[in-house]
Amino acid sequence: MITVNEHYYKLKASYLFSDIAERVKNYSNADPDREIIRLGIGDVTSPLPRACIEAFHKAVDEMADEATFRGYGPEQGYAFLREKIAKNDFQDRGISISPDEIIVSDGAKCDTGNIQELFSDTITIAIPDPVYPVYVDTNVMAGRTGANADGRYQGLVYLESTAANGFVPALPSAKVDLIYLCFPNNPTGATATKDQLKEWVDYARENKALILFDAAYESFIRDDSLPHSIFEIEGADEVAVEFRSFSKNAGFTGTRCAYTVVPKKCRGFKQNGEAVEMLPLWLRRQSTKFNGVSYPIQRAAEAVYTEAGRRQVRELTDYYLKNAALILEKMTGLGYTCTGGRNSPYIWIKSDMDSWDLFDLLLQKAGVVCTPGSGFGTCGESYIRISAFNSHANVEKAMQRISEASV
Ligand code: MLT
Repeated sequence: MITVNEHYYKLKASYLFSDIAERVKNYSNADPDREIIRLGIGDVTSPLPRACIEAFHKAVDEMADEATFRGYGPEQGYAFLREKIAKNDFQDRGISISPDEIIVSDGAKCDTGNIQELFSDTITIAIPDPVYPVYVDTNVMAGRTGANADGRYQGLVYLESTAANGFVPALPSAKVDLIYLCFPNNPTGATATKDQLKEWVDYARENKALILFDAAYESFIRDDSLPHSIFEIEGADEVAVEFRSFSKNAGFTGTRCAYTVVPKKCRGFKQNGEAVEMLPLWLRRQSTKFNGVSYPIQRAAEAVYTEAGRRQVRELTDYYLKNAALILEKMTGLGYTCTGGRNSPYIWIKSDMDSWDLFDLLLQKAGVVCTPGSGFGTCGESYIRISAFNSHANVEKAMQRISEASV
């Protein structure tokens, strides 16, 4: 008998963004002439930067020539890309990360979802609430939780991120082993200061814990006092893994390229207490289950670090930040209390309504898609998230429609 992994039945029937897509499709089928503006899933809308496109084309041509054709690439990613990442994203900021501590992949979603395979099933996991659902769901699939009761899985320690703590959770009172953090945060748009991250790093060092730090939105930081990487905090290289992506800075959501930083000093422990390096474990996992990102895409990602690429990425992120500022201004003007929208492409909006009711209302009355906050956790109830990833024209139109709909 082929028995199935019954942990899947603990999950909600479908993934949050699939649920939303289904609702939008049903609405669209019922009213096909209605133009819908999508400010739900954080998917970019502008084309790839010119520098990336040029490098991409050139690399595709190389694949057409026997002399320059490439088959399987190096398992960790091409050195040309890892060297640029190490220099530009870390060393130039005074952070000591070397190219062999970087592993190129096809997405931060995959990496943050897959890394839980490296840990035993007895660990205690701390998850922020609200949170990017991938962190939770992949641990549920792996059987590290009990059933879902009232929106929360038994066995997880939830770190409440609320208006009261500025959406930066406090350290847990119970001892935890694995901690998921994301700043600038998805979904709240909140940012964490160096002092706040230091508390987590100190906690992890004292408790032999590990931090999984999702920095997919770091390119939206404009406040120079905010950390772009957890490795700006002393000692973090012993207790943290960081996830980065080219999706939101350079528009690679459809192209797929990201990377994970696992410092050589970063350690886990065997059951007998022996300290072990995390890097060989992640390399073993990736080289067994993943065959790398294609050569043309890694060349396109490398172009992010050219002078033109850097300028174009800055223009792109400025473009979305301008949308974010407009959403923040308009929604605040309508009387909503908002977080995020500065140093982040997401605006987290408090309402008096149930999240899904407000989602439906905005869709029906304004033709605007947002993301219901409750989809990110119980602390997201009565919030919605509006994404700044769309054209200026569409964001202006969406704000106009929401104010006319008087919701
Ligand atoms: C989101 O909308 O939360 C993100 O687009 C999800 C993702 O990056 O996978």
